[in-house]
Order: sequence, then structure tokens, then C-alpha cells
Amino acid sequence: MTKQTPAQSDARKRDLALEKAYATKGPEANRELYASWAPTYESGFIVDSGYVYHQEVVKVFCDSFSELSGPVLDVGCGTGVIGGELAKMGLSVIDGIDISPEMLAEAAAKTHNGRPVYRKLIEADLTGRTELADGAYAGVVSSGAFTHGILGPETISELLRAASPGARFALGINSAHFKEFGFDQWLDKRRSDGHIADLEFKLRPIYGDVDEDDPNQWTRIAAFAAG
Ligand SMILES: C[S@@+](CC[C@H](N)C(=O)[O-])C[C@H]1O[C@@H](n2cnc3c(N)ncnc32)[C@H](O)[C@@H]1O
Repeated sequence: MTKQTPAQSDARKRDLALEKAYATKGPEANRELYASWAPTYESGFIVDSGYVYHQEVVKVFCDSFSELSGPVLDVGCGTGVIGGELAKMGLSVIDGIDISPEMLAEAAAKTHNGRPVYRKLIEADLTGRTELADGAYAGVVSSGAFTHGILGPETISELLRAASPGARFALGINSAHFKEFGFDQWLDKRRSDGHIADLEFKLRPIYGDVDEDDPNQWTRIAAFAAG
């Protein structure tokens, strides 16, 4: 038998984790999956896979404004990797929302310069109406939650409700999922109805080392402003 190189072994571990995640459909199954994955999600998956998704979303988000006055919402925040990046960029009022209490517990332990990264962590199912207040957020970001079996375009309506006028969005959407659910037509309709403005899609890699031809290794980051 040929011995795998460390890089091949990490890619195999990533593919196995993703196979399981992509086969998981709906809120209850996701709650169960992430309950068991939470303790090793960062030390295992994020590290082994060379995940750069959160960094790519934060770059697109921070390039989209010169000043942001108001809180940022991290959608499907998981263990808080986006929050960590936002804190490094000097943003300090960040809330996270996620269905998994175990993933949120990891995010709650995240600190930057000795202070918790997140102001507030909210447990909620984003496939339906949440308790987020109307117009509360000046920024909305997401990596890894608009993907197979998790969130579709309709969740963006709920996020727009919770966004203040002009709020900046940077939502990472798995490229295969983007196509399957017609995110471009869905967002284009909101743009022509005046619910969003300045719509752009940025194609970015999800991992440091990606297969050019595999849409599951690429994200289309939808950058726009709430109308
Ligand atoms: C692949 S992880 C992404 C986590 C983090 N944003 C990242 O980039 O590492 C997907 C996250 O979506 C959350 N999730 C799954 N279904 C959800 C739902 N219906 N509502 C809210 N969050 C959900 C999971 O608990 C998990 O933390």
C-alpha cells in the first residue's frame, strides 16, 4: 500500500468531514452534528483543511466601508473564527448567532487582547423568524453557513429585517449551493425591488489549497448594502 503524505492525509480528513456535513439536512440534524463536532472543529477541521473562508469574508467586508458605526452580526458563527478576524481588524461590537449551543460555547471562550470577542451570542434557528431586533445591525457577515443542508436565500430576508438602512453585508455562499438555489436571481430581484444596493459577487477560495474545478472549494461572497 502506498503511504499518504501529510497533505494527502489532511485532505482526506477534510473530505470525510465535509461528506458528513453536506449530507446533513435541516436544523435538527445540524444541531446534532455540531454538538459532537464542536470540541474538535477548530483544532481538527479548520487547521487540517487549511480553511481561509473566514479571512476571505472579513477582507471583503472590511474593504466595503471606510467607517462602520454599529454592531456586526456573525451569521452561523460556530466557534467564532470570523469574530476573531473582525476583532483583529479593530471591530469590537460583534454578536454571533447559531443553532448549536456547543459551537456557541466555544465562541464564548474566544478572546482578543484579554476581552471576549463577542458581545452577545444568540442561539437560534436561522431557517425561520428569530428574536433579532429590527434594524439592529450595521454589518452582517457569514462563512460556512450558506451551504448544503444549512441556509438558503430566504434567510437573507430575516437578516435584512435585522439590518439598519445602509448596513454592509458580506455573506459567503458555497459556489455549488449558490448555483443550486439561484442566489444570484434571488438577490437580483431584491436589488431591483430596492431592498438591497451595490450588489457584487466576489469569488474566493475556501481553503489555502483548492481544486480550481471543484465548486465546493470556492465561495461566492455576496457583498451588498441594505436598501
Ligand atoms: C460550517 S459551520 C461554519 C461556522 C463558522 N462560521 C466558520 O466559518 O467556521 C456551520 C454553522 O452553521 C450552524 N447552523 C447549522 N444550521 C443552522 C441553522 N438552522 N440556524 C443557525 N445556525 C445553523 C452550525 O451550528 C455551524 O456552527
